[in-house]
Amino acid sequence: MNVVICDDYQHMSTLASRAFIDCLQSNPRAVLGLATGSTPIGCYKNLIDSYKAGNISFAEVTSFNLDEYIGLHRDHPQSYYYFMHQQFLNQVDIQSQRVFIPSGVEENYGVYCQWYEDRINEAGGIDLQILGIGSDGHIAFNEPGTALGSRTHITDLDHQTIDDNARFFDSKSDVPKRAITMGVATIMDAKKIILLATGENKAAAIRDAIQGPVGSECTASALQQHPNVTFYLDKAAAALLHNE
Ligand code: F6R
Repeated sequence: MNVVICDDYQHMSTLASRAFIDCLQSNPRAVLGLATGSTPIGCYKNLIDSYKAGNISFAEVTSFNLDEYIGLHRDHPQSYYYFMHQQFLNQVDIQSQRVFIPSGVEENYGVYCQWYEDRINEAGGIDLQILGIGSDGHIAFNEPGTALGSRTHITDLDHQTIDDNARFFDSKSDVPKRAITMGVATIMDAKKIILLATGENKAAAIRDAIQGPVGSECTASALQQHPNVTFYLDKAAAALLHNE
């Protein structure tokens, strides 16, 4: 695994967007795995700029998002569907029929989760996956205790995650308690993974992910076993790593 300590958020976002630009320039039909949250916004902004400058196109790209809150319709301002379209997808030339974001309002999730996995496989698998990390070490919404062999599934959100994400809602009680998420094994199938983290509240999770034991208590630790993963960190997020 590669670890890159960045000067600041801007530098991290530049390196992350460069990974996407390289991917798209070598394969315009790439399959991208996308994340929501605060962390990737700068990367998405750079990609929009690069698209507007004529350097890249998303016209033949397929994208799969990691997760979505259960119970939020796609037009809810805090849904990940809404977020992705506002922050990124509406501003590039990606084709809506090739955008996949898990639905938060399905009747039969047993069928739907398998359908989502099948769509990823049908597209040929994810070429480049971007991840954030939760302060509890989650990737996507694979909370502590989630099996590392998990596939797309429904999960209860941890108290820590509900607390962390309350900043996006009017009150903590408005934060959904459950989510649909790609599993750890779904993520591990991606050919290349980049994980971004900034800030001291991510430092313990980053230490556990990179230098802790591989196990379900920190699902990001599974990435230690991935053949092509790079962590882009600011100094605060990297502060608890010890030299090896
Ligand atoms: C979002 C996701 C989550 C976030 C994580 C960090 O799709 O899967 O794992 O990446 O909770 O969120 P931020 O970036 O808001 O700190």
